[in-house]
Amino acid sequence: MSAAAAVVRGLGGALPERVVTNHHLSTIMDTTDEWIRRRTGIAERRHSAEAESTSVLATTAARRALASAGVNSVGLLIVATSTPDKVCPATAPRVAANLGLHGIAAFDVSAVCSGFVYALATATWAIASGAVNSALVIGADTFTRLLDPSDRTTSVIFGDGAGAAYLSAGTVDEPGAVLASTLHSDGDGETLIHVPRTAGAFFEMQGKEVFTQAVSAMSESVKTVLASVGWEAAEVDSLIAHQANLRILNTVASVTGIPGSKAEVHLDRVGNTSAASIPLAMTDAGTKGHRSPGDKVVLTAFGGGTTWGAIAMTWPTISVVDPH
Ligand code: COA
Repeated sequence: MSAAAAVVRGLGGALPERVVTNHHLSTIMDTTDEWIRRRTGIAERRHSAEAESTSVLATTAARRALASAGVNSVGLLIVATSTPDKVCPATAPRVAANLGLHGIAAFDVSAVCSGFVYALATATWAIASGAVNSALVIGADTFTRLLDPSDRTTSVIFGDGAGAAYLSAGTVDEPGAVLASTLHSDGDGETLIHVPRTAGAFFEMQGKEVFTQAVSAMSESVKTVLASVGWEAAEVDSLIAHQANLRILNTVASVTGIPGSKAEVHLDRVGNTSAASIPLAMTDAGTKGHRSPGDKVVLTAFGGGTTWGAIAMTWPTISVVDPH
């Protein structure tokens, strides 16, 4: 009999209505479409309206993930977010109640751009332990609300959104099985990406240092999970890395030996959506229909904390709705 595993069986995404193009940003700050495309690969991003809070976007993504899996109940709900609706309580109970899932275990994970990888690994542990049979893992962030409108390095990168995955107990040979994970942190890097604890403070990022650390941390994590599952880099069908900068995606592919053509690119249309970036890129890959069940997939992220990690899984048998 095959070994037990948590298996992804549903995916969903949600994006705010408002598209903010590079051209628009160039009319309100000292930047150009050409600079943003060349240095980041981003063409446009979405900005949330007042009514499109983190919990609202998370609820829509979650509904779509449940519909994609063809289920309407779940044992555990985790929201990965660093931009919760309120400092307290957590966003997850609100999302669970919005879905009519009163009474289930629900909590937030705060790991900034690594949040989805952290939450997905946590859900697989919960399923592997037998504590729950199924889980909904949602990455949702609305960082544009915390950006300094005069800071051109952060304003050009970030966008808002949410993505979700539904998992349930199964076996390692089923398409969608989560096969290995690795998670890490180093609190000494906390000021590289942070919102200072002063009234009205904006999000701050040391872009160059983050770039360097993101490349090395994601590359090491990818190598760790590849070794765990015994895959060669050349065999990987899809590298779904946190969508922060196209140059980071290409460098991680080249450092790990994964062909650059296998790196999923979604940031051109949504920018860096923080915890939503990986599930949104997965949803996008599913929508494009260029993945087949059983394909070898590696997810990896780096974010504030600092935090980083990777997951090896196979591509699920799945149909998803395009959130664009
Ligand atoms: N438009 C035009 N020029 C800009 C600009 C913008 N939006 N942002 C910065 N510049 C300028 C700088 O002022 C600098 O000018 P100078 O040479 O005259 O001083 C020049 O471009 C180069 O700046 P630099 O900061 O070295 O750019 P970069 O190539 O490192 O790109 C980032 C900046 C932020 C795009 C890049 O560092 C990055 O993507 N970092 C990682 C971000 C990330 O991953 N964050 C999330 C992790 S969770």
